Amino acid sequence: MTLAEALKSIRFDKLRLKSKDAIGVDLGSTSIKIVHLKGTAGRWKLHRCAHLPLTNAGPDVAAPERRAQAVGLLKEYVRKQKGALAKNAVVSVSGNSVIVRFVKFPKMSREDLSKMIVIEAEPYIPFSIPEVNLDFQILGDVVEDAQKKMETILVAAKKEIINARVEIVQQAGLDPVMIDVDAFALQNAFEASFGTTTPETVLLVHIGAFVTTMVIVENGVPKVVRDVFIAGNAVTKALQRNFQCDGKQAESMKVRAQILVTPEDRERAMADANKESLQMSTVILPVMKDLLAEIQRSLDFYLSQGSDRQVARVLLSGGASRLGNLMGYLAQELRLPVEAFDPFQRIDGAQSIAPELRPLFAVAVGLALRREGDAG
Ligand SMILES: Nc1ncnc2c1ncn2[C@@H]1O[C@H](COP(=O)(O)OP(=O)(O)OP(=O)(O)O)[C@@H](O)[C@H]1O
Ligand SMILES: [Mg+2]
Repeated sequence: MTLAEALKSIRFDKLRLKSKDAIGVDLGSTSIKIVHLKGTAGRWKLHRCAHLPLTNAGPDVAAPERRAQAVGLLKEYVRKQKGALAKNAVVSVSGNSVIVRFVKFPKMSREDLSKMIVIEAEPYIPFSIPEVNLDFQILGDVVEDAQKKMETILVAAKKEIINARVEIVQQAGLDPVMIDVDAFALQNAFEASFGTTTPETVLLVHIGAFVTTMVIVENGVPKVVRDVFIAGNAVTKALQRNFQCDGKQAESMKVRAQILVTPEDRERAMADANKESLQMSTVILPVMKDLLAEIQRSLDFYLSQGSDRQVARVLLSGGASRLGNLMGYLAQELRLPVEAFDPFQRIDGAQSIAPELRPLFAVAVGLALRREGDAG
């Protein structure tokens, strides 16, 4: 089972897909990622792909300023495509305006739960119900306290954030047709790359600028879904503070920084008298330790649910997953294989995209995979 059918009410009922073609638009806080696929499941072909960085995207830039930049960039991109781009756009939300909860509801039909969801969901949602769009997916039956129940994924997203996303794409001349959640888009991208029946349980970690999204996928079911606010910006800020420099300088430092993991790494830097390299690593390590602790929490939570549970691999994506030697660091600390996630693995026509840029598009690919049929 996948979550391809989830989020029906978070998607707009009144904005149904008019054609089957849709583009995935990942509206990040520092850059927009666009993916347009043609074809059908198992035979996807890349039609368009773009990475549009916001010109002024430092950690302190306010949301309205980011939105204005995003509209401008997107509008210009759409204009340049001269009609070759689908008008339908699938966008996503993440962060603290989105709540994903695993809840065991009393056994009932899907229809009945649909009718009662507003009441049933209330205890699990830290927002007032009129403020959010709600959706759910029933995963399967369970018995708890001798009662028949059903394991359900409950999703609530604040209307405010949904409307903000919708306005950006509309102002750019596109039609928003579906709203997804970054975590579920990631899962979809993973399944398109590795198949839905992969027996391995994986942890997907998508590290952006503000947010890191984590999903543990077991047999096509998301078992843990979490967003944490330790990502690229936290590294930039730490560098800014320690080197007393501005955001732009810190960003360029970050691109050449390496996490020095082993004693050999450090000895090499010392032998090269590379003081800056040593210092950058010293500054970045505590931030990555915090991120590591959050990743470990997700793993521990999953592993604590059953003695037979195992996570085979960690797949990293998002812009900040490019941080020098992050993979080596996490692999050593987690004692698990850690690899870059290439969402274009099984998509034709993506050969020209450089390997190091591919993980950046993980969410956008997941969004581009959504089709009319998905929404039921
Ligand atoms: N080569 C690199 N080395 C280290 N960090 C990098 C590199 N390239 C990009 N980054 C960082 O990746 C982050 C941007 O990644 P991404 O585009 O995935 O974020 P976003 O989607 O805009 O953010 P969010 O989803 O959190 O709003 C920035 O913090 C940027 O500094
Ligand atoms: Mg992002």
